[in-house]
Order: sequence, then C-alpha cells, then structure tokens
Amino acid sequence: MNIAILGTGSVGQALAGKLMSLGNDVTVGTRDVEVSLTRVEPDRMGNMGIGQFMVDNPGVKLVTFNDAINSDTDLIINALGGESILEVLGAIDPNLIDSKVMIDVANPLDFSNGFPPSLTICNTTSLGEQVQTQFPTLKVVKALNTVSNPVMINPTALSGNHNLFICGNDMDAKNIVGGVLISMGWNSSQIIDLGDITNARGTEMFLPLWVRIFGKVQTPMFNIGIVTE
Ligand SMILES: NC(=O)c1ccc[n+]([C@@H]2O[C@H](COP(=O)([O-])OP(=O)(O)OC[C@H]3O[C@@H](n4cnc5c(N)ncnc54)[C@H](OP(=O)(O)O)[C@@H]3O)[C@@H](O)[C@H]2O)c1
Repeated sequence: MNIAILGTGSVGQALAGKLMSLGNDVTVGTRDVEVSLTRVEPDRMGNMGIGQFMVDNPGVKLVTFNDAINSDTDLIINALGGESILEVLGAIDPNLIDSKVMIDVANPLDFSNGFPPSLTICNTTSLGEQVQTQFPTLKVVKALNTVSNPVMINPTALSGNHNLFICGNDMDAKNIVGGVLISMGWNSSQIIDLGDITNARGTEMFLPLWVRIFGKVQTPMFNIGIVTE
C-alpha cells in the first residue's frame, strides 16, 4: 500500500518503521522538512528525533504535509498532535483526500495545565467526528489511539487477552484498516468495532484513564482486555 503518515513524532515514526518493514511504500508529512531533518537528538521523553529516524530508515520519504498525499495514496494516517489535523487537511487539495481512508490515531489532549492532560474536545463530540464532519468524503476510522505506540506495532509483546477499538461510518474502510492492523500483529478477535464514528467519543475519553494508569504502572507497555461472562 501507499501510506501517507501525517506526523513525525513517536507515533508517526513507529508506524512508518513498522509499515515500511511490512513492504508498504511510506511517506511521512511534516511542516518543514529542513527543520525536521535537524532533529537528531532524542526529545525530553527520550523519543528519537525524526532527523535520526530518517538516517536510520532511508526507505521512508519525508515531505511537507501538502506533498504527503497524492492520487496514489491508499491510506492516510493522522499522527498529529491535538487538533492539528483539521488545519493540515484543510490546506490540502480536497480532490486528493476525496474517498480516501484515514486512520485517526490522534487524541485531543491539552497539556497547557501540565500532567495529567485534559481533553479539548469531549462528551458530545470528538476529534474523530470533527474530522469526519469537516471532510465528509474522507473515510475516517478511529483506531490505535487507546494504546501506546510500542503496543500499536507490537501487540504480541503483551501476554493475555487485550483489545483494540475501532469505529467509523464506512464498513469497507474499517475492513481495510482491520487488514492493516492484522498485518501489524493484531488478531482479528482482539479488534472490537464499536460502530460509527460517534464512538470516538468513548475511545478518546479513555485517555484521561490511560494517563492515570500509566502514572501508576510506569510503563507504556499495557492495555486493557474486555472480559464478559
Ligand atoms: N505517543 C503515543 O504513544 C500515542 C499513543 C496513542 C495516540 N497518540 C496520539 O497520536 C498523536 C501523535 O502523537 P506523537 O506523540 O507521535 O506526536 P505529537 O508530539 O503529539 O505531534 C507531533 C506532530 O504534530 C505536528 N504538529 C504539532 N503542532 C502542529 C501544528 N500547530 N500544526 C501542524 N502540525 C503540528 C508536528 O509537526 P512537525 O513534524 O512539523 O513538527 C508533528 O508532526 C497525538 O494526537 C497523540 O495524542 C499518541
């Protein structure tokens, strides 16, 4: 697949490296390529700079957001901070995103008052819905936003039953995304389709609990598993 990943942070890098290793053609989008290439030092969380990632992964292309999506793009991934996707997609030729499938990994986190973050969008709407409403011909599938990036690309690192939630309005798009998730190591029985994109309210509002569990277990290598009788 031709995959355009919008975002150069730890999520964009993790997904780019994994999807490229699986034989996909991966392009990563950023605001300023030259500036991004200078980021060779790890950030304060210890995440690799995108400049170093590009040295280590020469098969991945790094371009501006506007050049990341073209007529050959099969899948877009939103790996941008907060609500940036609304502005970034708004600057792209609408014909290039028309009918495309997009995995929305982002969470509308607000760190302006420190840790733990709150949500800028919640309760009666969600970031996933706002993207779908603003870009109605885009096929938005919310997925992977409830797990850390090391778990996203290596789900078998966790033992026992654990689950991943997806939602979106287009069943064909969800099937395509399901195939991508399975290629990354998720088992179909782990993937719970919650329904339409309004269910992104639930998966995004899981984040306030996710960050508190993280504070307690002190590792991003965890997930939740759904148990029924
Ligand atoms: N970290 C995780 O494990 C994890 C897990 C699940 C979900 N998520 C979600 O995934 C998303 C990405 O997380 P992350 O930690 O990899 O990266 P991040 O630091 O949240 O975001 C980095 C990306 O956002 C872009 N960006 C920041 N401000 C922008 C603006 N004003 N306009 C346009 N672009 C802007 C940056 O552009 P440049 O490339 O130009 O710098 C960069 O590509 C977030 O929404 C996060 O909540 C993260």
